Amino acid sequence: MEKPQIFIANDHGGYTLKTNLVSYLLEKGYEVQNFGCDSEEIVRYPFYAAKVARAVLETENSKGILLCSTGIGMSIMANKFKGIRAALCYSSYQARMTAAHNNSNILCLGGRCIGSFEAMDMVNLWLETPYEGGRHDISLGLIAEAEVIQFSKDWWEF
Ligand code: RB5
Repeated sequence: MEKPQIFIANDHGGYTLKTNLVSYLLEKGYEVQNFGCDSEEIVRYPFYAAKVARAVLETENSKGILLCSTGIGMSIMANKFKGIRAALCYSSYQARMTAAHNNSNILCLGGRCIGSFEAMDMVNLWLETPYEGGRHDISLGLIAEAEVIQFSKDWWEF
C-alpha cells in the first residue's frame, strides 16, 4: 500500500519534537504537511488538533501526528471528532499495539515527555504496523456506534 500522507501539528510544547519528526518522516519518504506553530511562542493546542483531525477525516490514506507538551490536550481535543481515533502513546509497544488493535488514525506524543529518538521509533512502528482487523473490528464498530447514538444508560448494560 502507498505510504499515507502525514498531517502534523504542534503547540509551543511540541515544537522541537515536531521539527525533528518532520525531518525524519521526509527522509523516510513520507509526504508531510505541517499545520503546527513554528516557534515556542504560546499558542492554543485545540486549534491545531482540530486542523489535523479535519485533514485526516477529509483525506484518504492519511494519518495525523499531534504534539503538545504532554500529548494529553491534543488527544482530548482530537478525539472530539467523529471518526478520529487518536492514541496518546508513551512507548513503542503502545504505538505498535494501537496501530494493530485500534487502527488509530492520529498519534499524540508529548514533546516534553519523550526524547526525539524514542519518538521516531514510535512513529515508525505506528506507521509500519498494519491494523489486524478481525475481532478488533467489533470494538471499533462499538466506538463508531457510540459516536452516533451518544451514550444512553442501556448501551453499556451487558
Ligand atoms: C501547554 O503549556 C500545555 O498545556 C500543552 O502543551 C499540553 O501539554 C496540554 O495538554
